[in-house]
Amino acid sequence: MNLNNRRKFFKKVIAGLVSFSIAPKIASEASTLEIKKRAEVPYFTNGFKIAEVDSNTTMLWTRLCSQAEPNPVRHERIDKVFRHPIDFDENQEVNKMDGAVGGAEGMVRALVKDERGGTVFTSDWEETLPANDYTAKIPIKDLKSGHAYQIILEAKKRGSNEVNIEKGSFSTAPGKNDKVPVVLTTSTCQYFWSFDEKTRGFHTYDSMAKLKPDFFVHTGDYIYYDKPGPLAKNFEKARHKWHAMNGWPSLRDFFKNVPIYMIKDDHDLLKDDAYRGKGPYGDLTFQDGVKLWYENVPIEDKPYRTVRWGKDLQFWMVEGREYRSPNDMEDGNEKSIWGKEQIDWFTKSVDESDATFKLLFTATPVVGPDRDGKKDNHANSNFKHEGAWLRRYLSAKKNMFVVNGDRHWQYVSKDLETGLMEFGSGPVSDFHVQGWDAEDVRPEHQYLNLIGGFLSIEVDRKLGKPKISFKHRDVYGKEMHEESFIG
Ligand SMILES: [Fe+2]
Repeated sequence: MNLNNRRKFFKKVIAGLVSFSIAPKIASEASTLEIKKRAEVPYFTNGFKIAEVDSNTTMLWTRLCSQAEPNPVRHERIDKVFRHPIDFDENQEVNKMDGAVGGAEGMVRALVKDERGGTVFTSDWEETLPANDYTAKIPIKDLKSGHAYQIILEAKKRGSNEVNIEKGSFSTAPGKNDKVPVVLTTSTCQYFWSFDEKTRGFHTYDSMAKLKPDFFVHTGDYIYYDKPGPLAKNFEKARHKWHAMNGWPSLRDFFKNVPIYMIKDDHDLLKDDAYRGKGPYGDLTFQDGVKLWYENVPIEDKPYRTVRWGKDLQFWMVEGREYRSPNDMEDGNEKSIWGKEQIDWFTKSVDESDATFKLLFTATPVVGPDRDGKKDNHANSNFKHEGAWLRRYLSAKKNMFVVNGDRHWQYVSKDLETGLMEFGSGPVSDFHVQGWDAEDVRPEHQYLNLIGGFLSIEVDRKLGKPKISFKHRDVYGKEMHEESFIG
């Protein structure tokens, strides 16, 4: 019996035992089976992430799993995003849901090898427990800048020597004086039910992998708690959303070899246009959302941070949810999306930077244009004060650009007042496109396209001078639009 069939067999037997009264003989068989089941080695079904890479460190994230594959997609959807999957029972057991992946208690550690195959770092064994949804975070330290490394993750049951392994690779950020080319990709907004196809998930991830980017920035809405299939109104369903997303093979494969930085937005924190004080979503409070976020995103210290990547690139990732004023507060000098502490950190570090090109990654737009009715970001009327200040500040910096998520269409815009350029990556998949009319081309628009996909950004010195290129691509990686600038 292969592993899968054996698992199905165990499941059947155990399910049978639950539904009938348990005779002593069968009970003892069941406990033997349970022991065997428990002895199975944990799986890496939710993959792992190489996160927060800088020149000397990274943070690995993983979740140990009790099943080798996620539950298959069994339901059909109607041809419109965010609608209920047909006949999907919101109240069924979570472990029966499409995309579900059970967790497993166990131990996990990481080995890091250099290019010659020598082990340069061995982490402690970390225990995975139900309290953290069987996730683990493994800090890796003392690496060399601009070096390629291999990662081997090992998972086992406590007290066992039998391990499952998962392998990956990455390079650390080069030093601040190193003139090296950079390729990165970025995208936003992915909803489990917006998949391109039922087995691998999203084409965008497979297409990004072909470019072999140095890293990937996800600008928010990694999952959607407040969209059906299920609506995640409690911890169990909220965690399920992470499991289902991280279970797509296209993501699992991509993250093996491409480091990620994640920025949170409203839907992967709690609900639409979330801010502290807006009220809970079902049983989940804002603080619960924050806990769940950090359970899945291995950031140490502040959620806003900056990374230097060689001589020619520095990028900033800002936090737009944890510190914001209520959206319905009257606009004025006191009203903020970033909060004073973050603004001080941002302006100081940008002022001090001598990188050729500077990128601000933000979940939400700074330039827009956005829908007139929206009241959530710097391009909207209810954050006019901070928005105007920010556009003036950023446009006064040489070679500084905004890259944002949140909006479900691709665009490049140039602020009419300040000339600040903004690149909206658009959502991960075509199915997810909504919210803008293709005919509505405004004076700010340099490019507008109602498609999903991603944005790739390249920095190099092929022509002697540093150059940055922004390429919008469709889900297959085909270039749809390019803007380049010489530093
Ligand atoms: Fe979104």
